[in-house]
Amino acid sequence: MFNLFRSPTPLLNDYSFLAVDMHSHLLPGIDDGAKTIEDSISLIKQLKGMGFQRLITTPHIMADLYPNTPEIIKEKLEEVRSALKAHNINMPIDAAAEYLMDETFGDKIAAGNLLTLPGNRVLVEMSFISPPPRLEEYLFQLQTKGYRPVLAHPERYLFYRNNFEKYRNLKARGCEFQLNLLSLTGYYGKPTKDIAIKLLKEKMINFAGTDMHHEQHAALINKALENKAFNKLIQKHKEQLQNHKFNLI
Ligand SMILES: [Fe+2]
Repeated sequence: MFNLFRSPTPLLNDYSFLAVDMHSHLLPGIDDGAKTIEDSISLIKQLKGMGFQRLITTPHIMADLYPNTPEIIKEKLEEVRSALKAHNINMPIDAAAEYLMDETFGDKIAAGNLLTLPGNRVLVEMSFISPPPRLEEYLFQLQTKGYRPVLAHPERYLFYRNNFEKYRNLKARGCEFQLNLLSLTGYYGKPTKDIAIKLLKEKMINFAGTDMHHEQHAALINKALENKAFNKLIQKHKEQLQNHKFNLI
């Protein structure tokens, strides 16, 4: 029967459709994410409760602010794995990194020991003020070394807002894009939300991540599951967001 009042989009129960979260800051005390091991455990428990089945956490590596190394990150990862075991929490967790494309990034690529996501992918970010002067060079250098760049939260680089061609150019250069879930709620502001929606409409997104740093993020990501507009966007563009391309589950 024709129904004037079309049934609303059923709400998502959780984020199990994503399976893997591949962007977060869950290792204690090494960046602006979890501060203590208790923070780490709490955030991981919440991610588990939201339906994630596997985590690949990505601490910042920035020469100035967070000069993390693969050794530091691996050591912290082991600390978190032991704590999870001690708390009887079953959640597979690995670590990659979120590399700022600063002036030291070229040397890191050349050294060839970048921490990667599955498929030899490297999560990269840029400053929110301006693109790195050597952006194209870095992307080329990464690919020459057999790495596949994934740009973290492209929607947050507002300097590209009126120049969408820049996004198309990055995609044409082989860069994949990872959207932050919270961008779709307006958490980072309306311009970011607008860019996020446009990127989805143009089918330019490859992965979605939580970019979880702290309790507030956890609460908001959980709360978003009740938001109708958020649900509509997620369900309309589910194919682009699903992280099954990692073939991990
Ligand atoms: Fe991040």
